[in-house]
Amino acid sequence: MLEAIAAIREAALARVAAATTSEELATLRVQYLGKKGELTQVLRGMGKLPPEERPRVGQLANQVREELERALREAGEKLSRQEQERRLRAEALDVTLPGRPVTTGHRHPLYQVLNEIKAVFIGLGFDVAEGPEVESDYYNFEALNLPKDHPARDMQDSFYITEDVLLRTHTSPVQARVMEARRPQVPIRIIAPGKVYRRDDDATHSPLFHQVEGLLVDRRVTFGDLKGTLMAFLQQIFGDGVRVRFRPSYFPFTEPSAEVDISCVMCGGCGCRVCSHTGWLEILGCGLVHPKVLSMSGYDPEEVSGFAFGLGVERVAMLKYGIDDLRLFYENDLRFLQQF
Ligand code: FA5
Ligand code: MG
Repeated sequence: MLEAIAAIREAALARVAAATTSEELATLRVQYLGKKGELTQVLRGMGKLPPEERPRVGQLANQVREELERALREAGEKLSRQEQERRLRAEALDVTLPGRPVTTGHRHPLYQVLNEIKAVFIGLGFDVAEGPEVESDYYNFEALNLPKDHPARDMQDSFYITEDVLLRTHTSPVQARVMEARRPQVPIRIIAPGKVYRRDDDATHSPLFHQVEGLLVDRRVTFGDLKGTLMAFLQQIFGDGVRVRFRPSYFPFTEPSAEVDISCVMCGGCGCRVCSHTGWLEILGCGLVHPKVLSMSGYDPEEVSGFAFGLGVERVAMLKYGIDDLRLFYENDLRFLQQF
Protein backbone atom coordinates (compact mmCIF):
# COMPACT_ATOMS: atom_id res chain seq x y z
CA MET A 1 0.00 0.00 0.00
CA LEU A 2 2.77 2.37 0.91
CA GLU A 3 4.44 1.61 -2.42
CA ALA A 4 1.21 2.24 -4.33
CA ILE A 5 0.92 5.68 -2.68
CA ALA A 6 4.56 6.46 -3.47
CA ALA A 7 4.01 5.48 -7.10
CA ILE A 8 0.92 7.70 -7.35
CA ARG A 9 2.94 10.53 -5.83
CA GLU A 10 5.79 10.15 -8.35
CA ALA A 11 3.51 9.99 -11.37
CA ALA A 12 1.25 12.84 -10.21
CA LEU A 13 4.09 15.24 -9.40
CA ALA A 14 5.78 14.50 -12.74
CA ARG A 15 2.58 15.21 -14.68
CA VAL A 16 1.85 18.40 -12.74
CA ALA A 17 5.37 19.62 -13.49
CA ALA A 18 4.91 18.84 -17.18
CA ALA A 19 1.49 20.52 -17.50
CA THR A 20 1.43 23.55 -19.82
CA THR A 21 -2.13 24.87 -19.40
CA SER A 22 -4.55 25.54 -16.53
CA GLU A 23 -7.03 23.12 -18.13
CA GLU A 24 -4.49 20.30 -17.91
CA LEU A 25 -4.00 21.03 -14.20
CA ALA A 26 -7.74 20.94 -13.60
CA THR A 27 -7.91 17.49 -15.24
CA LEU A 28 -5.02 16.22 -13.10
CA ARG A 29 -6.70 17.49 -9.92
CA VAL A 30 -9.81 15.46 -10.75
CA GLN A 31 -7.75 12.45 -11.77
CA TYR A 32 -5.83 12.25 -8.46
CA LEU A 33 -7.76 14.17 -5.81
CA GLY A 34 -11.34 14.05 -7.09
CA LYS A 35 -14.10 11.92 -5.52
CA LYS A 36 -13.12 8.98 -7.74
CA GLY A 37 -9.47 10.08 -7.92
CA GLU A 38 -6.58 7.63 -7.58
CA LEU A 39 -5.46 8.87 -4.16
CA THR A 40 -9.01 9.06 -2.87
CA GLN A 41 -9.56 5.43 -3.88
CA VAL A 42 -6.48 4.39 -1.90
CA LEU A 43 -7.74 6.15 1.22
CA ARG A 44 -11.13 4.50 0.77
CA GLY A 45 -9.45 1.07 0.75
CA MET A 46 -7.81 1.68 4.14
CA GLY A 47 -10.62 -0.09 5.94
CA LYS A 48 -9.35 -3.40 4.65
CA LEU A 49 -5.91 -2.92 6.24
CA PRO A 50 -4.87 -4.41 9.59
CA PRO A 51 -5.44 -1.75 12.26
CA GLU A 52 -1.73 -1.38 13.12
CA GLU A 53 -0.84 -0.35 9.56
CA ARG A 54 -3.60 2.24 9.20
CA PRO A 55 -1.87 5.19 10.96
CA ARG A 56 1.24 5.00 8.78
CA VAL A 57 -0.66 4.60 5.53
CA GLY A 58 -3.08 7.36 6.53
CA GLN A 59 -0.26 9.69 7.43
CA LEU A 60 1.54 9.10 4.15
CA ALA A 61 -1.62 9.47 2.08
CA ASN A 62 -2.45 12.79 3.76
CA GLN A 63 1.11 13.97 3.28
CA VAL A 64 0.99 13.10 -0.42
CA ARG A 65 -2.40 14.79 -0.81
CA GLU A 66 -1.08 17.99 0.75
CA GLU A 67 2.06 17.81 -1.40
CA LEU A 68 0.00 17.31 -4.55
CA GLU A 69 -2.33 20.16 -3.65
CA ARG A 70 0.60 22.50 -3.11
CA ALA A 71 2.20 21.42 -6.39
CA LEU A 72 -1.09 21.97 -8.24
CA ARG A 73 -1.57 25.40 -6.64
CA GLU A 74 1.96 26.54 -7.40
CA ALA A 75 1.89 25.22 -10.97
CA GLY A 76 -1.50 26.87 -11.46
CA GLU A 77 -0.22 30.23 -10.29
CA LYS A 78 2.83 29.97 -12.53
CA LEU A 79 0.78 29.00 -15.58
CA SER A 80 -1.80 31.72 -15.15
CA ARG A 81 1.01 34.28 -14.78
CA GLN A 82 2.52 33.03 -18.02
CA GLU A 83 -0.82 33.00 -19.78
CA GLN A 84 -1.53 36.56 -18.72
CA GLU A 85 1.88 37.70 -19.92
CA ARG A 86 1.25 36.08 -23.28
CA ARG A 87 -2.11 37.82 -23.57
CA LEU A 88 -0.64 41.18 -22.63
CA ARG A 89 2.15 40.80 -25.15
CA ALA A 90 -0.39 39.99 -27.89
CA GLU A 91 -2.51 43.02 -27.03
CA ALA A 92 0.37 45.37 -26.36
CA LEU A 93 0.33 48.74 -28.06
CA ASP A 94 3.71 49.49 -29.55
CA VAL A 95 3.84 53.27 -29.61
CA THR A 96 7.03 53.21 -31.68
CA LEU A 97 5.27 51.60 -34.69
CA PRO A 98 4.73 53.97 -37.63
CA GLY A 99 1.03 54.89 -38.03
CA ARG A 100 -1.16 53.38 -40.72
CA PRO A 101 -1.74 55.97 -43.44
CA VAL A 102 -5.35 57.18 -43.70
CA THR A 103 -6.40 57.29 -47.34
CA THR A 104 -8.15 60.58 -48.00
CA GLY A 105 -10.59 60.97 -50.86
CA HIS A 106 -10.90 64.00 -53.07
CA ARG A 107 -13.53 65.88 -54.97
CA HIS A 108 -15.09 64.20 -57.99
CA PRO A 109 -13.54 65.53 -61.24
CA LEU A 110 -16.91 66.94 -62.35
CA TYR A 111 -17.19 69.00 -59.19
CA GLN A 112 -13.57 70.14 -59.49
CA VAL A 113 -14.47 71.51 -62.93
CA LEU A 114 -17.76 72.94 -61.63
CA ASN A 115 -15.88 74.78 -58.89
CA GLU A 116 -13.42 76.19 -61.43
CA ILE A 117 -16.32 77.37 -63.60
CA LYS A 118 -18.00 79.02 -60.59
CA ALA A 119 -14.75 80.71 -59.56
CA VAL A 120 -14.32 82.28 -63.02
CA PHE A 121 -17.87 83.71 -63.09
CA ILE A 122 -17.69 84.88 -59.48
CA GLY A 123 -14.51 86.68 -60.54
CA LEU A 124 -16.51 88.33 -63.36
CA GLY A 125 -19.05 89.64 -60.84
CA PHE A 126 -21.78 86.96 -60.99
CA ASP A 127 -23.68 85.67 -57.91
CA VAL A 128 -24.64 82.01 -57.49
CA ALA A 129 -28.40 81.22 -57.51
CA GLU A 130 -30.21 77.91 -57.12
CA GLY A 131 -33.48 76.34 -58.24
CA PRO A 132 -35.30 73.04 -57.64
CA GLU A 133 -34.49 69.88 -59.61
CA VAL A 134 -38.15 68.84 -59.47
CA GLU A 135 -39.71 71.69 -61.42
CA SER A 136 -43.13 72.77 -62.62
CA ASP A 137 -44.01 72.70 -66.30
CA TYR A 138 -44.53 76.46 -65.99
CA TYR A 139 -40.93 77.34 -65.08
CA ASN A 140 -39.26 74.60 -67.13
CA PHE A 141 -41.16 75.46 -70.32
CA GLU A 142 -43.99 78.02 -70.31
CA ALA A 143 -42.16 80.91 -68.64
CA LEU A 144 -39.43 80.33 -71.24
CA ASN A 145 -41.82 80.88 -74.13
CA LEU A 146 -42.33 77.15 -74.71
CA PRO A 147 -46.11 76.76 -74.47
CA LYS A 148 -47.70 73.29 -74.35
CA ASP A 149 -47.46 71.55 -77.75
CA HIS A 150 -44.52 73.75 -78.82
CA PRO A 151 -42.40 71.57 -81.15
CA ALA A 152 -39.13 72.65 -79.48
CA ARG A 153 -40.20 70.70 -76.36
CA ASP A 154 -39.26 67.56 -78.27
CA MET A 155 -35.56 68.48 -78.06
CA GLN A 156 -35.72 68.05 -74.29
CA ASP A 157 -37.65 64.85 -73.68
CA SER A 158 -37.92 64.47 -69.94
CA PHE A 159 -38.95 62.47 -66.90
CA TYR A 160 -42.40 63.50 -65.70
CA ILE A 161 -43.64 63.16 -62.12
CA THR A 162 -47.17 64.30 -62.98
CA GLU A 163 -48.48 66.04 -66.09
CA ASP A 164 -47.39 69.42 -64.67
CA VAL A 165 -44.31 68.44 -62.65
CA LEU A 166 -41.07 67.06 -64.10
CA LEU A 167 -37.35 66.69 -63.47
CA ARG A 168 -35.98 69.92 -64.95
CA THR A 169 -34.45 69.43 -68.40
CA HIS A 170 -32.16 72.45 -68.11
CA THR A 171 -31.16 75.12 -65.60
CA SER A 172 -33.02 77.83 -67.57
CA PRO A 173 -36.08 77.80 -65.23
CA VAL A 174 -33.83 79.53 -62.67
CA GLN A 175 -33.78 82.53 -65.05
CA ALA A 176 -37.54 83.01 -64.65
CA ARG A 177 -37.44 82.35 -60.89
CA VAL A 178 -34.68 84.90 -60.29
CA MET A 179 -36.31 87.57 -62.49
CA GLU A 180 -39.66 87.11 -60.72
CA ALA A 181 -37.98 87.44 -57.35
CA ARG A 182 -35.97 90.56 -58.21
CA ARG A 183 -38.21 92.53 -60.59
CA PRO A 184 -37.96 95.37 -61.36
CA GLN A 185 -34.38 95.72 -60.13
CA VAL A 186 -31.36 95.72 -62.45
CA PRO A 187 -28.70 94.60 -62.86
CA ILE A 188 -29.23 90.86 -62.44
CA ARG A 189 -25.98 88.97 -62.76
CA ILE A 190 -26.25 85.32 -61.71
CA ILE A 191 -25.06 81.84 -62.52
CA ALA A 192 -27.17 78.80 -61.53
CA PRO A 193 -25.28 75.50 -61.44
CA GLY A 194 -27.01 72.17 -60.91
CA LYS A 195 -28.26 68.80 -62.05
CA VAL A 196 -30.63 68.39 -65.00
CA TYR A 197 -32.34 65.33 -66.53
CA ARG A 198 -33.21 64.17 -70.03
CA ARG A 199 -34.12 61.04 -71.92
CA ASP A 200 -30.61 60.83 -73.44
CA ASP A 201 -27.93 58.15 -73.28
CA ASP A 202 -24.70 57.86 -75.32
CA ALA A 203 -20.99 58.74 -75.15
CA THR A 204 -21.68 62.49 -75.02
CA HIS A 205 -25.22 62.44 -73.54
CA SER A 206 -26.12 61.27 -70.05
CA PRO A 207 -29.66 61.05 -68.57
CA LEU A 208 -28.42 63.05 -65.58
CA PHE A 209 -25.95 65.82 -66.30
CA HIS A 210 -24.90 69.22 -65.02
CA GLN A 211 -25.44 72.68 -66.43
CA VAL A 212 -24.41 76.13 -65.37
CA GLU A 213 -26.98 78.72 -66.33
CA GLY A 214 -25.93 82.35 -66.73
CA LEU A 215 -28.22 85.37 -66.78
CA LEU A 216 -27.42 89.04 -67.04
CA VAL A 217 -30.19 91.66 -67.26
CA ASP A 218 -29.46 95.37 -67.39
CA ARG A 219 -29.97 98.42 -69.61
CA ARG A 220 -28.46 98.20 -73.12
CA VAL A 221 -27.03 94.67 -72.91
CA THR A 222 -25.83 93.51 -76.35
CA PHE A 223 -24.71 90.33 -78.06
CA GLY A 224 -21.19 91.80 -77.84
CA ASP A 225 -21.42 91.67 -74.03
CA LEU A 226 -22.44 88.01 -74.23
CA LYS A 227 -19.61 87.15 -76.60
CA GLY A 228 -17.02 89.04 -74.54
CA THR A 229 -18.15 87.39 -71.31
CA LEU A 230 -18.10 83.88 -72.79
CA MET A 231 -14.70 84.40 -74.46
CA ALA A 232 -13.22 85.67 -71.18
CA PHE A 233 -14.62 82.60 -69.46
CA LEU A 234 -13.45 80.09 -72.10
CA GLN A 235 -9.95 81.55 -72.21
CA GLN A 236 -9.62 81.22 -68.44
CA ILE A 237 -10.77 77.60 -68.52
CA PHE A 238 -9.06 76.36 -71.72
CA GLY A 239 -6.22 78.86 -72.20
CA ASP A 240 -5.79 81.74 -74.67
CA GLY A 241 -5.26 79.42 -77.65
CA VAL A 242 -8.73 77.85 -77.47
CA ARG A 243 -10.64 77.71 -80.80
CA VAL A 244 -14.25 78.80 -80.27
CA ARG A 245 -17.14 78.87 -82.77
CA PHE A 246 -20.44 80.74 -82.31
CA ARG A 247 -22.98 78.91 -84.45
CA PRO A 248 -26.46 80.39 -85.12
CA SER A 249 -29.13 78.33 -83.42
CA TYR A 250 -32.64 78.46 -82.05
CA PHE A 251 -34.04 78.60 -78.53
CA PRO A 252 -37.59 79.87 -77.91
CA PHE A 253 -36.33 81.89 -74.90
CA THR A 254 -33.53 83.78 -76.67
CA GLU A 255 -33.40 85.90 -79.81
CA PRO A 256 -30.97 85.83 -81.53
CA SER A 257 -29.63 82.46 -80.33
CA ALA A 258 -26.33 80.68 -80.76
CA GLU A 259 -24.59 77.52 -79.74
CA VAL A 260 -20.91 77.59 -78.86
CA ASP A 261 -18.52 74.84 -79.96
CA ILE A 262 -14.92 74.19 -78.92
CA SER A 263 -12.50 72.47 -81.28
CA CYS A 264 -12.42 68.79 -80.34
CA VAL A 265 -9.42 67.99 -78.15
CA MET A 266 -9.71 64.27 -78.82
CA CYS A 267 -8.88 64.50 -82.53
CA GLY A 268 -7.51 68.05 -82.72
CA GLY A 269 -10.40 68.95 -85.02
CA CYS A 270 -9.96 66.21 -87.68
CA GLY A 271 -13.17 64.43 -86.70
CA CYS A 272 -13.77 61.46 -84.39
CA ARG A 273 -16.46 59.59 -82.47
CA VAL A 274 -16.60 62.22 -79.70
CA CYS A 275 -17.28 65.16 -82.04
CA SER A 276 -19.47 63.07 -84.40
CA HIS A 277 -16.78 63.61 -87.08
CA THR A 278 -17.33 67.38 -87.17
CA GLY A 279 -14.13 68.48 -85.38
CA TRP A 280 -16.22 70.52 -82.90
CA LEU A 281 -17.95 69.76 -79.62
CA GLU A 282 -20.93 71.79 -78.45
CA ILE A 283 -20.56 73.06 -74.91
CA LEU A 284 -23.30 75.65 -74.46
CA GLY A 285 -26.38 77.37 -75.80
CA CYS A 286 -26.88 81.11 -75.46
CA GLY A 287 -28.56 84.24 -76.75
CA LEU A 288 -30.23 87.52 -75.86
CA VAL A 289 -33.18 87.02 -73.53
CA HIS A 290 -36.39 86.94 -75.59
CA PRO A 291 -38.61 90.05 -74.99
CA LYS A 292 -41.54 87.76 -74.18
CA VAL A 293 -39.54 86.02 -71.44
CA LEU A 294 -38.59 89.40 -69.95
CA SER A 295 -42.19 90.63 -69.88
CA MET A 296 -43.57 87.31 -68.52
CA SER A 297 -41.16 87.67 -65.59
CA GLY A 298 -42.08 91.29 -64.92
CA TYR A 299 -39.48 93.31 -66.85
CA ASP A 300 -40.17 95.85 -69.60
CA PRO A 301 -38.31 94.78 -72.78
CA GLU A 302 -38.32 98.42 -73.90
CA GLU A 303 -36.34 99.37 -70.78
CA VAL A 304 -33.97 96.45 -70.26
CA SER A 305 -32.31 93.67 -72.20
CA GLY A 306 -30.24 90.68 -71.19
CA PHE A 307 -28.19 87.70 -72.23
CA ALA A 308 -28.34 84.11 -71.03
CA PHE A 309 -26.39 80.92 -71.56
CA GLY A 310 -26.55 77.28 -70.48
CA LEU A 311 -23.25 75.45 -70.25
CA GLY A 312 -22.77 71.65 -70.16
CA VAL A 313 -20.36 70.85 -67.31
CA GLU A 314 -19.61 67.27 -68.48
CA ARG A 315 -18.63 68.56 -71.92
CA VAL A 316 -16.22 71.07 -70.40
CA ALA A 317 -14.68 68.37 -68.19
CA MET A 318 -14.34 66.00 -71.20
CA LEU A 319 -12.53 68.65 -73.23
CA LYS A 320 -10.38 69.77 -70.31
CA TYR A 321 -9.15 66.27 -69.45
CA GLY A 322 -9.40 64.58 -72.87
CA ILE A 323 -12.08 62.08 -71.81
CA ASP A 324 -13.84 60.37 -74.72
CA ASP A 325 -16.90 58.99 -72.89
CA LEU A 326 -18.85 60.98 -70.32
CA ARG A 327 -20.31 57.81 -68.80
CA LEU A 328 -16.91 57.33 -67.09
CA PHE A 329 -17.87 60.16 -64.71
CA TYR A 330 -20.76 58.10 -63.33
CA GLU A 331 -19.30 54.59 -63.06
CA ASN A 332 -17.45 55.26 -59.77
CA ASP A 333 -14.42 53.28 -60.95
CA LEU A 334 -11.58 54.34 -58.64
CA ARG A 335 -8.97 53.61 -61.33
CA PHE A 336 -10.58 56.42 -63.33
CA LEU A 337 -11.37 58.81 -60.46
CA GLN A 338 -7.93 58.59 -58.83
CA GLN A 339 -6.32 60.20 -61.87
CA PHE A 340 -7.74 63.61 -61.03
C1 FA5 B 1 -30.23 74.20 -73.25
O1 FA5 B 1 -30.41 73.37 -72.37
C2 FA5 B 1 -30.58 75.62 -73.04
N1 FA5 B 1 -31.33 75.76 -71.83
C3 FA5 B 1 -29.31 76.44 -73.04
C4 FA5 B 1 -29.57 77.91 -73.08
C5 FA5 B 1 -29.59 78.62 -71.89
C6 FA5 B 1 -29.76 78.56 -74.29
C7 FA5 B 1 -29.83 79.98 -71.91
C8 FA5 B 1 -30.00 79.93 -74.32
C9 FA5 B 1 -30.03 80.62 -73.13
P1 FA5 B 1 -29.06 72.52 -74.89
O2 FA5 B 1 -30.15 71.52 -74.92
O3 FA5 B 1 -28.32 72.74 -76.17
O4 FA5 B 1 -29.58 73.93 -74.43
O5 FA5 B 1 -28.03 72.08 -73.73
C10 FA5 B 1 -26.99 72.94 -73.30
C11 FA5 B 1 -25.70 72.17 -73.16
O6 FA5 B 1 -25.87 71.09 -72.26
C12 FA5 B 1 -25.22 71.54 -74.44
O7 FA5 B 1 -24.47 72.47 -75.19
C13 FA5 B 1 -24.36 70.42 -73.93
O8 FA5 B 1 -23.07 70.91 -73.59
C14 FA5 B 1 -25.04 70.02 -72.69
N2 FA5 B 1 -25.87 68.82 -72.83
C15 FA5 B 1 -27.08 68.71 -73.41
N3 FA5 B 1 -27.58 67.49 -73.30
C16 FA5 B 1 -26.67 66.77 -72.61
C17 FA5 B 1 -26.60 65.42 -72.12
N4 FA5 B 1 -27.60 64.57 -72.31
N5 FA5 B 1 -25.49 65.04 -71.44
C18 FA5 B 1 -24.49 65.91 -71.22
N6 FA5 B 1 -24.50 67.19 -71.63
C19 FA5 B 1 -25.57 67.62 -72.31
MG1 MG C 1 -27.75 72.17 -77.91
